[in-house]
Amino acid sequence: MAKAPMDKLLLSHIHVAILAALLLLTHGKGFIESSSSSSSSCCHLNDTVTGCIAHERSALVGFKAGLLDPANLLSSWKGDDCCKWKGVYCSSRNNHVVKLDLPGHGCDHNDDTMTQVLGGNISSSLLGLQQLKYLNLSCNGFDGVQIPKFIGSLHKLRYIDLSMSMFTGRIPPQLGNLSSLRYLNLASNTYSNGITWLSRLTSLEHLDLTFVDLSTVVHWLPVMNMLPSLKVLYLRNCFLRTSSGLLQLSNLTSLERLDLSANNFRTYITPNWF
Ligand SMILES: *[C@@H]1O[C@H](CO)[C@@H](O)[C@H](O)[C@H]1NC(C)=O
Ligand SMILES: *[C@@H]1O[C@H](CO)[C@@H](O)[C@H](O)[C@H]1NC(C)=O
Ligand SMILES: *[C@@H]1O[C@H](CO)[C@@H](O)[C@H](O)[C@H]1NC(C)=O
Ligand SMILES: *[C@@H]1O[C@H](CO)[C@@H](O)[C@H](O)[C@H]1NC(C)=O
Ligand SMILES: *[C@@H]1O[C@H](CO)[C@@H](O)[C@H](O)[C@H]1NC(C)=O
Repeated sequence: MAKAPMDKLLLSHIHVAILAALLLLTHGKGFIESSSSSSSSCCHLNDTVTGCIAHERSALVGFKAGLLDPANLLSSWKGDDCCKWKGVYCSSRNNHVVKLDLPGHGCDHNDDTMTQVLGGNISSSLLGLQQLKYLNLSCNGFDGVQIPKFIGSLHKLRYIDLSMSMFTGRIPPQLGNLSSLRYLNLASNTYSNGITWLSRLTSLEHLDLTFVDLSTVVHWLPVMNMLPSLKVLYLRNCFLRTSSGLLQLSNLTSLERLDLSANNFRTYITPNWF
């Protein structure tokens, strides 16, 4: 009678032993595999804690390869740990590149430094930086280069500053896919012949389109009215012609700064609509 539970106990001991042996086997196997294939599985955690992530480093190398950098502003872009490169910032949590802060000196009023700018092409290898939140390429010299469409696929972007960097051509409507965007500064000689894409950027707080040619855009007011978080709206020198309906900006309750100067409005703006 008392034998049965003893048997069960013995059986469960055997089970534990088999389980332990199996565990040992699988782990032992894993260990052998990972130690022979240098880094991949065994050291993944350590890799992300120390240097930058390898494929993001490659993305930066590809980006640099498309650039012209006569003043050697990116001379620190060498070595394994791209998180230590000038203008590159990685998350302290997971080491992903989250910020690229590479403004040039093209806006300086100093003859000695104003030629220290980046130019050339913006390589699509930037797409490797999928965790990028902040991109600042302002005051550089991308003469005649268009704002690349693929920037609209860097979905984590919150801040884009491409102002005063000589970009030309049409602003890609793909930027409307960046639903986290808070700050967008495209002040430059670009143009847009339809701005409905802007109305999807409902988190936008700062919008600067100074000098962007919006002469073909008629219904810009309803678009701005879809951006209820806007605090700053600069539409100076945008060749805007219509101002009727300014009263409809009823949604912009957070607005703190507004610049509509140097446009071609044919009607007077009555200041009391504020
Ligand atoms: C990661 O590996 C480096 C050597 O490559 C070592 O110095 C460091 O202590 C390791 N870090 C952790 C958290 O294991
Ligand atoms: C930029 O792209 C154009 C057209 O593909 C090419 O002719 C030019 O050499 C490129 N510039 C650089 C710096 O790679
Ligand atoms: C980009 O860099 C310029 C120059 O340092 C700075 O004035 C500007 O505020 C930066 N833009 C953003 C969005 O931080
Ligand atoms: C991005 O936007 C464009 C044009 O607005 C659209 O055609 C495209 O499907 C969007 N792509 C994604 C991945 O959302
Ligand atoms: C106000 O903004 C919200 C959110 O973007 C939008 O759904 C709504 O249509 C806007 N109202 C008007 C009058 O444009």
